Amino acid sequence: MKKRLAAVAALLATLGAAPATQAQDSRFSRDASGQPVLTVDGKPFLVLGIQLNNSSGFPDTFHALAPAIKRSHANTVMVPLGWESIEPEEGRFDFSIIDGLIAEARAQHIRIALLWFGSWKNAKMSYAPAWVKHDTQRFPRVEDADHHPIDALSPIAEASRNADAKAFAALMAHIKAVDAKQRTIIMVQVENEAGTLGADRDHSAAAEALFTAPVPADMPGAKQGSWQDNYAEKAPEAFMAYHTARYIGAVAAAGRKAYDLPMYANVWPREQPGLLRPGDSSPSGGAVSWLLPQWKALAPAIDVVGVDNYDTNVAPYTQIAKAYDIPGNPLFVPETGGSMAHARHAFWTIAQPHSVGISKFGIDEGFGISKGQEAIEPIALDYQLLRDAAPFLLPLRDAGHALSAVEEDGMANIPLTFDGIEAVARFGEVRDGYGGPRGQGNADLSGRVIVAQVEANRFLIVGASTNLLFAPRLGTAGHVELVSVEEGHFMDGRWVRDRLLNGDETAFGLVLPASGKSLMVTTQVVR
Ligand code: DGJ
Repeated sequence: MKKRLAAVAALLATLGAAPATQAQDSRFSRDASGQPVLTVDGKPFLVLGIQLNNSSGFPDTFHALAPAIKRSHANTVMVPLGWESIEPEEGRFDFSIIDGLIAEARAQHIRIALLWFGSWKNAKMSYAPAWVKHDTQRFPRVEDADHHPIDALSPIAEASRNADAKAFAALMAHIKAVDAKQRTIIMVQVENEAGTLGADRDHSAAAEALFTAPVPADMPGAKQGSWQDNYAEKAPEAFMAYHTARYIGAVAAAGRKAYDLPMYANVWPREQPGLLRPGDSSPSGGAVSWLLPQWKALAPAIDVVGVDNYDTNVAPYTQIAKAYDIPGNPLFVPETGGSMAHARHAFWTIAQPHSVGISKFGIDEGFGISKGQEAIEPIALDYQLLRDAAPFLLPLRDAGHALSAVEEDGMANIPLTFDGIEAVARFGEVRDGYGGPRGQGNADLSGRVIVAQVEANRFLIVGASTNLLFAPRLGTAGHVELVSVEEGHFMDGRWVRDRLLNGDETAFGLVLPASGKSLMVTTQVVR
């Protein structure tokens, strides 16, 4: 433990030392455990995102949203760009919109994750240009079981794939020309919530022939035989995933060849509680968890598959998130909601080892303004607390030294067990009673905290609406003394102490108010 913490401490010591002239850079590299780690400008980067609404990926709208984006405290804006906007006629590209978006992001001093709405947007083809929509011969649609074409491009169609890949590669080449030095755009989402809604699979004659043929040899894990033999009732979804992954893998590869930026795909999860009907309750063919390993193998140009997770209940939210957090694919939630529940989940998400980050969908609705007054949105407080802490926190987190506690209905006291010491996060008023002093819960369930063990006896505590108490590990004697309690903030990856807390401010637990706080606490177990 001591050795591991010393190694993390050595890394932390280098963080603030990066020269101001550090080359602008954005990449996923693999750490010692083989997990992809996003670094931007040479430092670990946590995506704390805000996503522009679907029709707001235009420079003027982006500009008008600048105050709201600032209030969000996000470090990344997810900006949609539709294929229809850059290639209105086949082969004639117009990059004025992307140029305007990059200029606007630079003016706002914020990074962009660009969302390529090409062949798929929420399992539909609505962002494809008119010349693609009109030519159903060249760009065939998925046909439903009654052989009616639907508003989705067939994933088996090479012409569509090539046209999308060509447009995406042209876009990436342009971005390279105008932004490779500054890296305003740090990553790209390839397509959006891919798959098909309105049919379990493509039932066109060409697709039928492929579906009844043996499963291709490059489908990971499949045995010789038909789709039906291999996957039974899940065969239509597996078939669509095979073709959709290869299609999007080809689009992503073409883009990376033009300009090698980190790329990810987002998925509409199949695992939402309810009846599971791929093609109806969720898109058929997306990188859903049971097909995630196959998807990753078939689309290697995609670094990470992120799961759009809007669930407001703890159990389904964490279950869905965990299903997408597998070796080689760290947790990433590119879309979530804006409620207090989502803000609590964001703390949990960010605390998961190797988590790439989270992004709140939508900002059009006067984000941070309530009844004409400025107000802090729950997730904006998360971002405010964690944004500057991230470069310091992430190495500790990835080495397994950070834990989170989030409040839920009826769960107001959550234990956190560290090496040699434990803590309890208490939410709401702390009252004495049977079982000792216990949190009674916050009416708005706003308790959320991350505690990181920086050294054996030194802890970073970041959170809101929480009262934290340390104790020796069960079975060990003594009591925990607070040697010092620093209130502070981070600057350039280094802890900056603002004042020392003591007396009334620490006598009844380490209090993190609803407005949030960061503490660096040195403890001592006295035996
Ligand atoms: C998920 C999509 O990916 C977003 O683009 C947006 O349509 C949201 N749903 C709306 O809730």
